[in-house]
Amino acid sequence: MNLLQDKVCIVTGGGRGIGKATANKFIHEGGIVYIADYDESSGTAAAEELGENCTFVKTDVSNSESVRSLINQVKNDHGRIDIIVNNAGILQDNTLEKMDEEQFDKVIQDRKSVV
Ligand SMILES: NC(=O)c1ccc[n+]([C@@H]2O[C@H](COP(=O)([O-])OP(=O)(O)OC[C@H]3O[C@@H](n4cnc5c(N)ncnc54)[C@H](O)[C@@H]3O)[C@@H](O)[C@H]2O)c1
Repeated sequence: MNLLQDKVCIVTGGGRGIGKATANKFIHEGGIVYIADYDESSGTAAAEELGENCTFVKTDVSNSESVRSLINQVKNDHGRIDIIVNNAGILQDNTLEKMDEEQFDKVIQDRKSVV
């Protein structure tokens, strides 16, 4: 028996990087995975690559309407959500004193995920 057999999972920021690797692992463990990412091209490509148990839903986690629509879609499809990996975010590496206000605000805004 796989660890996540038939578990309904959402991985935000699953279009690439850590999120995509997480989605891949979850699928190999039997999960049904929704990739929620605002980058349509990488999200679509990742879902295609990961196969039939993976669905891409274009979602901006900093926008509550967008997240509500994602949740509604998953609940309509499966009636439940078992796991959410709240991974989406942006990294603008810099020490605080070198960061301008716009950079700082952008990172914080993206972190203010509503998932
Ligand atoms: N890689 C690292 O060394 C590191 C270090 C510290 C924190 N993190 C955090 O871990 C997470 C994953 O890191 P990664 O290296 O895989 O990042 P990445 O940039 O490779 O991937 C992030 C994914 O999140 C998506 N995304 C960003 N903002 C979004 C939003 N508002 N709505 C939906 N999707 C959004 C992007 O389109 C992208 O597909 C990020 O939150 C990052 O800030 C990473």
